[in-house]
Amino acid sequence: MIKNLVGLPARGDDFYDREELIELVWDYLEGGNNILLAAPRRYGKTSLMYRLIDQPNPGWKPIHVDAESIGMPVNFIISLLDSLMADRHIQNFFISTWKNSGKWLRGLIEEFGVTAPWDVGLKIKLKEKIGSHWQERGESLLQLLQNYRKEKLLIIIDELPVMLHLFRENKIPGAETKTFLYWFRKLRTDPKIGLTNCRFLVGGSIGIENYLSQLGAVDSFNDFQRIPLKELSPEGAVDFLRKLLKSRKIPLSIAGQRKILALMGTPIPYFIQMFVATIAIESANGVTRIGPRKIKEIYLNRFLGPEYKTYFQHYYDRLRYYDKALQNASKAILRELAIAQPQPIKKSQLRTIYWKEVGESATDDGFNQLMANLLNDFYIRQAEDDEKYVFASKILCDWWRRYYTF
Ligand SMILES: Nc1ncnc2c1ncn2[C@@H]1O[C@H](COP(=O)(O)OP(=O)(O)O)[C@@H](O)[C@H]1O
Ligand SMILES: [Mg+2]
Repeated sequence: MIKNLVGLPARGDDFYDREELIELVWDYLEGGNNILLAAPRRYGKTSLMYRLIDQPNPGWKPIHVDAESIGMPVNFIISLLDSLMADRHIQNFFISTWKNSGKWLRGLIEEFGVTAPWDVGLKIKLKEKIGSHWQERGESLLQLLQNYRKEKLLIIIDELPVMLHLFRENKIPGAETKTFLYWFRKLRTDPKIGLTNCRFLVGGSIGIENYLSQLGAVDSFNDFQRIPLKELSPEGAVDFLRKLLKSRKIPLSIAGQRKILALMGTPIPYFIQMFVATIAIESANGVTRIGPRKIKEIYLNRFLGPEYKTYFQHYYDRLRYYDKALQNASKAILRELAIAQPQPIKKSQLRTIYWKEVGESATDDGFNQLMANLLNDFYIRQAEDDEKYVFASKILCDWWRRYYTF
């Protein structure tokens, strides 16, 4: 039976549905594509990745790299090696093939074999040796993988866009990040050194396209097929909610269930999980009659209260990744959308807000770019009428309305 869990990736029996998407992902991988899995935070990307890891298609070995705290190119290489070395076969393979690689590696080879799991001291030494030669040395370490024949490797990299932003925060020059992106592309696709027996699946909660275009590196990622991870279908949401309530043994009327889904808007698995967990706490505290009114109270006082602030705050804080002028314009646009909710706002009206905020340096291109960012970073979406926009999620909008409109 599915368990009600909040925060940790959902695995095994606790992973709900997504079967069609999983099939699609494997189809793409089998067809030789790399995949960019795009969805807002908490839509279930990491859970989906674990599903691929836990139940791979025959002949595949998944390797998992969490890129969220990788702050420079050399660390990417070390983290990737670290994840690869976690597999005993790959570790043996590397150690035997590295024996013949460059002189610079001598003196370390023996240590690779004895330290298990890969020791932090060893990683530090390796990092010193690779240092500013990360392009050649990283390539010489990794390219040998193309002779690995035991199985195909699916290299899953979670939150790669965050890594690129971290490069920037760590003052890695844009030119070096660009070099890194093309280096990584070469590693994936070059017929001579490319890892032709590896496929890559990259996940991201924020759009990568804008940053790539700022760097002038859009084509460094053009071998990726973008697959969006959507919210649950309306029927899926009803079914998921029921299963979770059942596992918590909470009897809730149909009206109560409908109320939850209506308050939530877009059915995101995380929010459904959180709602059920919150109701469970209320029942444990002796609240017996939970109906639509109580549900609304929970939504207003708990969900939109300080308890869940960290979740939403992230959306506000990460606007700092935008240029200063665009940060202000975004805040002004989001504020207007939050106030107007549930009414959508015309693009032309948002353009006026942008021009007013940005002042002399405003351009139509700048506005279009900003709108593309807000769309790719999952703040807004187009309303049914293409020329109008609304917040991407009702719950985020309710939160914005409460804290950032006055
Ligand atoms: N397929 C799923 N089945 C059950 N719960 C899920 C599923 N996907 C996401 N969740 C819920 O959402 C939370 C966040 O999921 P996670 O995979 O970490 O999202 P992301 O990586 O997109 O931020 C999980 O802790 C769980 O409560
Ligand atoms: Mg995640």
